[in-house]
Amino acid sequence: FCLFLLCTLSFICTLVLLNIPQRTFGIDYDRNCFVKDGHPFRYISGSIHYSRVPRYYWKDRLLKMKMAGLDAIQTYVPWNYHEPQMGVYDFSGDRDLEYFLQLANEIGLLVILRAGPYICAEWDMGGLPAWLLEKESIVLRSSDSDYLAAVEKWMGVLLPKMKHHLYQNGGPIIMVQVENEYGSYFACDYDYLRSLLKIFRQHLGDEVVLFTTDGASQFHLKCGALQGLYATVDFAPGGNVTAAFLAQRSSEPTGPLVNSEFYTGWLDHWGHRHVVVPSQTIAKTLNEILERGANVNLYMFIGGTNFGYWNGANMPYMSQPTSYDYDAPLSEAGDLTEKYFALREVIGMYNKLPEGLIPPTTSKFAYGRVRLQKVGTVVEVLDRLSPSGPVKSTYPLTFVQVKQYFGFVLYRTKLPKNCTEPTQLSSPLNGVHDRAYVSVDGVQQGVLERGKSLMINITGNAGANLDILVENMGRVNFGRYNNDFKGLVSNLTLDQDILVDWEIYPLNIDGAVNHFIHGYPGHPKRSGGNPQSYEAPAFYTGTLSIPGGIPDLPQDTYVKFPDWTKGQIWINGFNLGRYWPARGPQLTLFVPSNILVSSVPNNITVLELEHSPCSTLLCEIEFVDEPIINVFTLFCFSKPKQVVFLFCCLQPPPQIVALHLAEI
Ligand SMILES: *[C@@H]1O[C@H](CO)[C@@H](O)[C@H](O)[C@H]1NC(C)=O
Ligand SMILES: *[C@@H]1O[C@H](CO)[C@@H](O)[C@H](O)[C@H]1NC(C)=O
Ligand SMILES: *[C@@H]1O[C@H](CO)[C@@H](O)[C@H](O)[C@H]1NC(C)=O
Ligand SMILES: *[C@@H]1O[C@H](CO)[C@@H](O)[C@H](O)[C@H]1NC(C)=O
Ligand SMILES: *[C@@H]1O[C@H](CO)[C@@H](O)[C@H](O)[C@H]1NC(C)=O
Repeated sequence: FCLFLLCTLSFICTLVLLNIPQRTFGIDYDRNCFVKDGHPFRYISGSIHYSRVPRYYWKDRLLKMKMAGLDAIQTYVPWNYHEPQMGVYDFSGDRDLEYFLQLANEIGLLVILRAGPYICAEWDMGGLPAWLLEKESIVLRSSDSDYLAAVEKWMGVLLPKMKHHLYQNGGPIIMVQVENEYGSYFACDYDYLRSLLKIFRQHLGDEVVLFTTDGASQFHLKCGALQGLYATVDFAPGGNVTAAFLAQRSSEPTGPLVNSEFYTGWLDHWGHRHVVVPSQTIAKTLNEILERGANVNLYMFIGGTNFGYWNGANMPYMSQPTSYDYDAPLSEAGDLTEKYFALREVIGMYNKLPEGLIPPTTSKFAYGRVRLQKVGTVVEVLDRLSPSGPVKSTYPLTFVQVKQYFGFVLYRTKLPKNCTEPTQLSSPLNGVHDRAYVSVDGVQQGVLERGKSLMINITGNAGANLDILVENMGRVNFGRYNNDFKGLVSNLTLDQDILVDWEIYPLNIDGAVNHFIHGYPGHPKRSGGNPQSYEAPAFYTGTLSIPGGIPDLPQDTYVKFPDWTKGQIWINGFNLGRYWPARGPQLTLFVPSNILVSSVPNNITVLELEHSPCSTLLCEIEFVDEPIINVFTLFCFSKPKQVVFLFCCLQPPPQIVALHLAEI
């Protein structure tokens, strides 16, 4: 009981003096370091997001991280991944966070947990659940009472589960991050941070180290740091490490130096170059960080994959691709890279590298081409996709208003007049979030796209069905546009007239892929043969049989979409993500072996939104053994001045991240 009362830093010393074996982790402000079990401690950590790696591969990836000499891993907890509907929680299968923590513990890796509620992470809405937007005026990441109530309820579910996994309770978690780069957010609401601090302390107790992470400048720390939360910074390779840590010292005059996000690569966007950061640049700065005794987390050590619909987006609206390879030391598929060995060498100068074999890169298999068959357009199978039928509304409703958060919604109205001549269909307020595939009585008219294409011409007769399939391409995950409503968020006009009397069909495509679409006995109409024109969004299916007589199959593979345009693919009901070879830079999608079976044919479903090769070329996709995620590449060096872009998960001062085109 006395010890309990002494529960401060002297607590640790007391225990050491009494020689009580006890797991403790804290901060020593006199010696400017962490202190673990009574001894000064410095960590070298790497980021892995369990939500981006199939559970089947967690152990493999964690072992590879351990073998790189890391002390710890850092992971985010995406709230929307675990609470898909308000009050409905999911911690099963790939979402089994506690199993992930247990594995890390068994492998001997400590865990730095970034519990949210907001995580950024290039993840849909920065991890915040879209259902929060059911209160339209909600101010996210603030003291807004509805927002805080939802946070409190969620943390009341998450944090008690985490408590058993804290270091002092025998688990791997040494530190817990509160919020994420809050200093980059406009609200600057200290009451909000104080409320979070209170909630975290309430559930986790007083001992655990709670911390914040912000850009390495006083500007970012101003609204990101809070008394009672240890302030750490993040910065990229190639910059001035002394200056960056001086910024941390402006908030924490003493205590350990920590870079919580040291970038090993960078994020990508559809339509932009794949970013590559050379290993030497990272190795050099990593060494500078480590030689001054600072703590570091390599973000990412393995990026993984935005399966399904989980990618986020930045503003002006640009969504992130399915691959979150990040040019990290372990590739998207967990492969050992040259960067892995370069960084392992630097880490080995400071940490004893574990004995034993590094788990090898998993084999990849080129299963070859698979023939697909059209089973029907979205409109043809509408009753299967939307069993409950449409919601009727004079003006368009958003996704959250029809209680659908991801994927696609079909908006239908009737043409109010004859459009014999090309007639302008437009979204004057840029309210198509994010991409709309427009048809009139099944004849494809074109595509509207947020921020890019706000007007198309259509033709058709009065009374014809005007069908607008709207795709949510991922919610903004960074900055003030986080409350990213999806669907038709403002009125559409035909000529100058507002279109009214909508039928809005929520679409449960993921459910239908599992149960209805495979083997759909419909009689699809052949579409026209013009390869330039848009076709109505349609489903295609096929099967992949794993060849017999070859040992160790199924293996990982990549799927490629020759002459396909844009869409979504499922294998055995697992939503692999979006493909968009027409825009790049990603041409192949990673297919982890655990979703394939060799006993029966694997069922493939493709939803092609714009144009398939099926009417004129080969109606095939192809399984290959190498990824192509870099049809165009941006090399990112340390030379200052030529700053190209700065995004989540931080806005580093320009002198710290300098990206420029390489002279290839
Ligand atoms: C790095 O920053 C420190 C502190 O601001 C400064 O004294 C030093 O000159 C800088 N070094 C370089 C190479 O710019
Ligand atoms: C549209 O055109 C058709 C002939 O093509 C005509 O019969 C009909 O009355 C027109 N409808 C309207 C609303 O103008
Ligand atoms: C739409 O049609 C009008 C009139 O035919 C034409 O002037 C305009 O360029 C067209 N716009 C687009 C985007 O095709
Ligand atoms: C559409 O326009 C009507 C009439 O101006 C307006 O009342 C309504 O709020 C608008 N709806 C949307 C979704 O913008
Ligand atoms: C694929 O679909 C067929 C027919 O519905 C079914 O028999 C088979 O088990 C499915 N394959 C897998 C791997 O689920």
